Amino acid sequence: MQDPLLSQALNLHPWNLDQVLDDLNEFGFALIDDVYSNDYVRTLAHECTSHLAEFRAAGVQNGVVSHIRSDHILWINGQLPLAQQHIQTLEHLSQALNQAFYLGIKEVEAHFACYNAGEFYALHRDNPQQKNDRMISTVFYLHEHWQDDWGGQLRLQDKNGQWHIIQPLANRLAIFQSDLLHEVLLSKQQRLSITAWLRSGHSIWHG
Ligand code: OGA
Ligand code: MN
Repeated sequence: MQDPLLSQALNLHPWNLDQVLDDLNEFGFALIDDVYSNDYVRTLAHECTSHLAEFRAAGVQNGVVSHIRSDHILWINGQLPLAQQHIQTLEHLSQALNQAFYLGIKEVEAHFACYNAGEFYALHRDNPQQKNDRMISTVFYLHEHWQDDWGGQLRLQDKNGQWHIIQPLANRLAIFQSDLLHEVLLSKQQRLSITAWLRSGHSIWHG
């Protein structure tokens, strides 16, 4: 069954929401390929690259340098209209997830991420021991194409303890429970994405 809300949203190719819900239920993660039209992904990637000068090192918090991650990020706000469209899609997805799993998602929080050659994000959970209100993590990959030997894979342990290696293919959306263990393997090329969290509370301000 297609969800008309989701299919209507933006340039979505129709895809099977039931399969996504089944996969999330069984494994705690799901992949959707060819989410949008190629035109939309190209213009979204352009929005990302045209703002690269404003990206900040993600591994620096309160002036302290972390060695866990080396990517650069830009929080998404109203100044980034194409990224906002993706957030709208995720808001529709949140409604479907709330209906299916009673997750109580209220907010979508998102940033662009850029990994330059040699950058990575070591093993972590986005929501360790329910420390924050991130329920579901999503990553959308928006570089033009990706080769298997470029690294930069998302390596993720599903809710049954099984490990998966996910190629960051353009126009692919990875969706997973925020409490799952995962990492980004060292990337040999510039790797562009939007990470977004579906949250059960209201957002905090990112300065
Ligand atoms: C993150 C993250 C995974 C990816 O941003 O927290 O784990 O594939 N990203 O980019
Ligand atoms: Mn993460």
